[in-house]
Amino acid sequence: MRDNVIAICPGSFDPVTYGHLDIITRASKMFHKVIVVVAGNSSKNCSFTPEERVEMIKKCIGNLPNVSVDHYGGLLAEYAAKKGATAIIKGLRAMSDFEYEFQMALTNKKLNPNVETLFLTTSAENMYLSSSMVKQIALMGGDISSFVPEVIKQDIINRIKK
Ligand code: PNS
Repeated sequence: MRDNVIAICPGSFDPVTYGHLDIITRASKMFHKVIVVVAGNSSKNCSFTPEERVEMIKKCIGNLPNVSVDHYGGLLAEYAAKKGATAIIKGLRAMSDFEYEFQMALTNKKLNPNVETLFLTTSAENMYLSSSMVKQIALMGGDISSFVPEVIKQDIINRIKK
């Protein structure tokens, strides 16, 4: 790998989970600089505003020195070009993620040939973890402690129960 590679970790992060945080932490060990970007997904109805999601991620990542957090309402390929990023990092869980992720990777490559999408295998304990599952558990009064950090737990419960 070249020196000084800037990578972006995109997602809806509605809300960020231990699964996302694992990918972000691992990416921070591989790349010079990592930008976590809260991006728009038109097929999702989000519970938190992009600004709220950025704040929640910041609370959770603590002091990873080479990681910053941002949000963007446009195309990811365009954002990568603006930031000089040449890698998009995504976590891959079960096979069910594959087709959708493959389609996005190919589209982003078409829109920005300078960017490569790299997949990190999700850690076994996060295999079936998703933001929507966390919201569903919170809605039903279940314990979400093993899925999200304590610092954002109450924010999620308060919003979902509203
Ligand atoms: O966490 P998600 O919902 O799986 O993340 C999907 C996301 C936000 C990364 C994707 O929808 C995205 O890149 N949105 C930005 C708009 C864009 O570039 N769309 C075309 C993607 S091929």
